[in-house]
Amino acid sequence: MKLGVNIDHIAVLREARQVNDPDPLQAIYIAKEAGADQITIHLREDRRHINEWDVKRILENSPLSVNIECSIDPDIVEFLADARPHRVTIVPEKREELTTEGGLNLESIYDRLDSVVHFFKAREIEVSLFIDPTKEAIKSSKILGVEWIELHTGEYANLYNSLYSNLSHTPHSIDELRTSRKNLSKALTQSLKNIKECSNLAKDEYGLKVAAGHGLNYQNVENIANIKDIEELNIGQSIIARSVYTGLKTAITDMKELLK
Ligand code: PXP
Repeated sequence: MKLGVNIDHIAVLREARQVNDPDPLQAIYIAKEAGADQITIHLREDRRHINEWDVKRILENSPLSVNIECSIDPDIVEFLADARPHRVTIVPEKREELTTEGGLNLESIYDRLDSVVHFFKAREIEVSLFIDPTKEAIKSSKILGVEWIELHTGEYANLYNSLYSNLSHTPHSIDELRTSRKNLSKALTQSLKNIKECSNLAKDEYGLKVAAGHGLNYQNVENIANIKDIEELNIGQSIIARSVYTGLKTAITDMKELLK
């Protein structure tokens, strides 16, 4: 199982003081040493963490392949087509959200997405779509002609955390999941089964490469890492959070061990 490390949060820390450290580029050398397979960054429309300067420096210097998450904003699409990352992962984006809350609503942006996918493919940039684990979204992704899909694991992660972590004792508990443990447990089993079935459909039936990510951490990752049809996981928050205490190299090697 390949590990893509999302290093946006390193740039979040830099932007908190608007200085030049910590430098996200430095993290990539450590990630490589620790056994990461890929770096993931998100060039958001509001540039709240990674900016164009980071993208250019990272692409010029990274010893690991670089996957850039982006919306279908025309300026960002133009910029990335010139910057030529190894892969772009198209994600939905709302200005007010804290993080990418769900997968793409493919139907509502189908025509624009179709032209963006062709635009990137014509420049030999791999394209992935960040989608919810549904059969319809997988079928539409295949029709759009992408090589990769990334399944949003946020629902699974929220259910897992509500059942097994101390999340419910924090001010950030998830209100929608205030339900009995029995129902949470049923929903978690169903959510995991759904991710497995969708991964299998995408890989075996449609020949898509399957990645997954969002909300994965050291407690909940193993169930997802055991799904044979998933090739790669992209993980950010939990790795960078652990690195505050252990250092980045250990945080990544700990995660990589779990993926084995
Ligand atoms: N994959 C995609 C497409 C994402 O948008 C994100 C969040 O930026 C991640 C993976 C990583 O999520 P997390 O930070 O919760 O591990």
